[in-house]
Amino acid sequence: MVMAKSIAEALLEASAALGNQPDHRRDAALLLGHVTGLSRSVIIAHPEALICSAHLTHLQGMIERRQAGHPMAYLIGTQAFWDLDFKVTPDTLIPRPETELLLEIILSQPNTGPKTVIDLGTGSGVIAVTLAAARPDWSVIATDASIEALRIAQQNGASLSNLSFVAGDWLTCFDGIAVDIIVANPPYIDPLDPHLAALVFEPKSALVAQDNGYADLKVIIHQSAPLLATNGYLLLEHGYTQQDTVLKEMRLAGYDPIAHCDLAGNPRAVIGHRKETL
Ligand SMILES: C[S@@+](CC[C@H](N)C(=O)[O-])C[C@H]1O[C@@H](n2cnc3c(N)ncnc32)[C@H](O)[C@@H]1O
Repeated sequence: MVMAKSIAEALLEASAALGNQPDHRRDAALLLGHVTGLSRSVIIAHPEALICSAHLTHLQGMIERRQAGHPMAYLIGTQAFWDLDFKVTPDTLIPRPETELLLEIILSQPNTGPKTVIDLGTGSGVIAVTLAAARPDWSVIATDASIEALRIAQQNGASLSNLSFVAGDWLTCFDGIAVDIIVANPPYIDPLDPHLAALVFEPKSALVAQDNGYADLKVIIHQSAPLLATNGYLLLEHGYTQQDTVLKEMRLAGYDPIAHCDLAGNPRAVIGHRKETL
């Protein structure tokens, strides 16, 4: 049986087990906070306080899962995105910082009054929830083919009355509506991409697309065009090598596309305004 230990001892051991780098010390503190319910401030301010054996056993299990490669976000159950904390589970992609570019692009467009927005492949709901919270007069619809992911998105957006949820295959269940903004961070990784080996804990259905990673991007580009209102636009995240093809596909489908890079300088998103003649 594990004996009670002080916070300082528990943190030292956990951090050493993880590798003793600054990141590991932060992870150890986060895991300790998660199992005990203690805030970061209490953990730092009271190193002498005792942790009971049940919490230490729980912490040990978490450390072992972390050593086996489980992402921190799944272990603690949350991930920060924009200015909120989102619940995440192995049913949802872990939101990436580069996806914040989509919010920067949308929120920096002139705000000309109420809009209808569809967030395709919402996952944990980060894009839809952030937009609905930032623009209370907009009506945001979050969709996903994964019912499990949609349930998590619903929990993340539970306090927002301008946000609704629809399960479905991209835009197939939308007909006869005019949408101002369609936004998506779809799966775009080639099934043969070696980077997938490092992403084994996240759902394949959130990451991988056929046709060298382009299948879902192309479906969304073509399904969106007839649904966009005048002056409406489609905004897509894509892989850093995919921008030229996305621009070409958007032009073929009748958009005026503009390319964007993320903060690291990588080509990451394309916004396509609907042409008047569509
Ligand atoms: C890259 S994840 C993006 C999640 C979230 N929007 C984000 O940025 O963190 C792609 C999402 O698309 C969903 N998806 C995959 N195929 C789909 C389809 N055919 N129709 C609707 N959603 C789909 C996945 O379930 C997943 O949640």
